[in-house]
Amino acid sequence: MNKPNKNKWTKKHLLSIEELSAEEIQIILDYAERFKEVLARPIPKVPALRGKTIVNLFSEPSTRTRSSFELAEKRLSADSLSLAASSSSFKKGESLVDTAKNIEAMRVDMIVIRHSSAGAARLVSEHVNGSVINAGDGMHEHPTQALLDIFTIKEKLGKINGLNVSIIGDIAHSRVARSNIWALKKMGANVTICGPKTLIPRQIGEMGITVTYDLASALKNADVINVLRIQLERQERGLFPSIREYIKHFGITKEVLEKHAKKNVLIMHPGPINRGIELSQDAADGEYSVILDQVTNGVAVRMAVLFLLNSIKLKSGENRIKTTAKTV
Ligand code: CP
Repeated sequence: MNKPNKNKWTKKHLLSIEELSAEEIQIILDYAERFKEVLARPIPKVPALRGKTIVNLFSEPSTRTRSSFELAEKRLSADSLSLAASSSSFKKGESLVDTAKNIEAMRVDMIVIRHSSAGAARLVSEHVNGSVINAGDGMHEHPTQALLDIFTIKEKLGKINGLNVSIIGDIAHSRVARSNIWALKKMGANVTICGPKTLIPRQIGEMGITVTYDLASALKNADVINVLRIQLERQERGLFPSIREYIKHFGITKEVLEKHAKKNVLIMHPGPINRGIELSQDAADGEYSVILDQVTNGVAVRMAVLFLLNSIKLKSGENRIKTTAKTV
């Protein structure tokens, strides 16, 4: 286990993977490893964020991200609350910035935000003094998902550098794909993306990745296959002919894996899965699926992010209780 070095951490917010360096990503992975060890203890809790208050502001549905942020906050001894759009004054037309400012007026230290608009987390970060974490903003980025994905790859395969990772599915609408591509490239992986032409952005090859519309060639040398959710809500826009057609050409099944992929290939999916569409039951629950490990690791990774953001001394008076590395 690398010795984590929070002194090299300088970011106040986590808004995207694009703006992180490989060194910063490594610091998060190193802390996540340490927090994973904390989570295995009989009492999986440390006082690192005692006295800190965190609000989870989710204006889109979430199972994994929201509950793992909530658990991460509890495991770090922070006080936290979650606010859903459906039960907040968003419903009455309050703007995002007003909502965030009102939340911060209650002496909140960090805001975790999921929003349907790209740039929402950045906008909030420009109007509040505390730290802001992007928990998914429209089709832009989902940084903590990419971090937990690469943490899981490293945990299972011992490295990221030099691995072949294929991302299959709806790349165009996927914040998970964008964050994963950034993270994997920064950490030295070879990335291939594959899906129907209509679901692959035209310029994406400029990110230094391989683009293919042929599933067999995407699977051939892959060490890791990250299968993305087909966003059924987009199907009405006719971006691919039919679900049946999609399954035929891009569905990942045990049979397809046995025919085209390496024997020990890791199968990942960020969730929620459309079982029987992008991923069959036998592939989702098969021997090499690490989908639930991804979810488990989400808590440790989010603990690492919260811990590191809190380690940045905020403007005078804002960082009300100083925490120390000894608390980890
Ligand atoms: N992976 C992911 O973001 O899942 P949720 O939408 O359930 O948070």
